[in-house]
Amino acid sequence: MSRQKFVAGNWKLNKTLSEGQELVSTILENLGDDSVTKIIFPPSVLISSLVNTVASAEHFFVGAQNCSEHESGAFTGEVSAAMLSSVGCKFVLVGHSERRQYFGETNSIASKKIKLALQNNLKVIYCVGERLTERKTNKHLEVVKTQITEALQSLDPANVIIAYEPVWAIGTGETATPAQAQEMHAHIRSVLENLFGADVAANTSLLYGGSCNAQNAKELFACADIDGGLIGGASLKADDFCKIIQSF
Ligand code: 13P
Repeated sequence: MSRQKFVAGNWKLNKTLSEGQELVSTILENLGDDSVTKIIFPPSVLISSLVNTVASAEHFFVGAQNCSEHESGAFTGEVSAAMLSSVGCKFVLVGHSERRQYFGETNSIASKKIKLALQNNLKVIYCVGERLTERKTNKHLEVVKTQITEALQSLDPANVIIAYEPVWAIGTGETATPAQAQEMHAHIRSVLENLFGADVAANTSLLYGGSCNAQNAKELFACADIDGGLIGGASLKADDFCKIIQSF
């Protein structure tokens, strides 16, 4: 996958079927012609229906917020990569900080999920980012390097996108400054270069997430190594999400 512009909306635990359909319909009505790839990540129970809603839209895909680290079997409540793929899901988030914090997702679990996702033709947005204490103690670059190395080193990164989401910026209204975000994105490219070479580093799309909104998206997206955004709260309002898409 070559480097592309992305705006992705992570709905988290929000929206019923009718609310989700209404949101997507309003987004579709207000989208101009653009080269930005749009992805929505609704709760998994809505994926199948929303795949139909966006079927005729250009550069618009539905993804899942999570998939199981197991292929199949006795794992009550889990959803596999193969199941997601079978209903037209095209992307999956792995390693989101809320999965790491509340569900014990480690780099090694993330690696298993990424492997299964790729085997099942899903593209992966792998989420990384440091906690506030790690930034305050100047460990942020090392933390992100470890997250990437441990999860990706044994994989083919061709269909992997990386989202840098500093934990202290998620849902807090506090955004990384463009300088902080750019520094980390450049660092991520150098980590990728060491692992996979210069071509992979240059061609991997890197997204910023963490209180990204219609007001601050433009200056973040203008940074040399930022290819778009992974949006939480602001993706739940059609108007804001569309404005962010128009922020390149
Ligand atoms: P907010 O945009 O609400 O800070 O959430 C970011 C996020 O976690 C996207 O995955």
